[in-house]
Amino acid sequence: MFTCSAPGKMILFGEHAVVFGRPALALAIDLRISCKVSSSDQYTVNGHAMRKRHHAYISASLDEAWDGPPIDVDTMSKIPAASGLGSSAAVTVSCIASMTSSKGRLNPEKIARMAFEVENKVQGIASPTDTSTSTHGHGVLVSPHKLDDFLWKIEKGTLVWNIHHCDVPRLRFVVGYTGIHAATGPLVAMVKKLVDAENDAKKVIDRIEEIVLAGVEAVKKSDKRRIGDLMNENHTLLNQLGVGHPALDKLVEACRKHSYGAKLTGAGGGGSMIALTDEPDRVSKEIEMAGGEAIPISVGCDGVRIERRA
Ligand code: MEV
Repeated sequence: MFTCSAPGKMILFGEHAVVFGRPALALAIDLRISCKVSSSDQYTVNGHAMRKRHHAYISASLDEAWDGPPIDVDTMSKIPAASGLGSSAAVTVSCIASMTSSKGRLNPEKIARMAFEVENKVQGIASPTDTSTSTHGHGVLVSPHKLDDFLWKIEKGTLVWNIHHCDVPRLRFVVGYTGIHAATGPLVAMVKKLVDAENDAKKVIDRIEEIVLAGVEAVKKSDKRRIGDLMNENHTLLNQLGVGHPALDKLVEACRKHSYGAKLTGAGGGGSMIALTDEPDRVSKEIEMAGGEAIPISVGCDGVRIERRA
């Protein structure tokens, strides 16, 4: 068995809409979780007896990927929990990788598939965006269509998500964490109910899809102004879906002056926002002055990897 680590993620465009099979663009970030698995005489997590409800993602990962004798699972995280930065995906991916890596080799497609099943089970509904980004790293374009740089395909019911590698240009982002924990499952369920019931909400999802497609082109050209404008519009649309929060708006507003654009990232309802900027120190100060925690990040980092033999 091995110690493996996996990165968190930020969704640049397309969260929530991707749950309906629409495209999304996500980038791996340089905050990681590592997971060490070693043999034991009982199941433990970080020295405590494993409890299904308390350790939902790890326990579901065991059900999905492990059929051996009891193990100790030890995790170390640099990603704030329930912050919109992909901590549950990273813990799931790094645990599954540690359980399934054999002869020092990882099978990313198998890990991404299993990790998606775990997130879907624990969250109730999910897209494979977070888990595939944490597995592959770099940038990930999720699309209903198979395009260049295809990695793997994940299906659930009638929905198909094609996962593609995406090169990430040098872009500087600052995360603003509100400190407000927001569980993804209930937010996704709320948006689904709204979109199923209201035509206006469906139109918002249609517009988010257009933003993702335009965003992919802007990222290819490294066109920061265009990326920023699209981020601002995506933020407004997410508010229209009801997943915003006054604390997020406050941080987004505080960053506007020295950023190309800013938006909430992930499920919303609290959690984090991101700002694209050439002045990360200035934007970090603005976030802190507005009551948030500023986390300057690098994007496009490695996906899941083996750190050492356990
Ligand atoms: C959460 O990081 C992203 C959502 O789109 C949910 C998902 O894709 O599973 C809100």
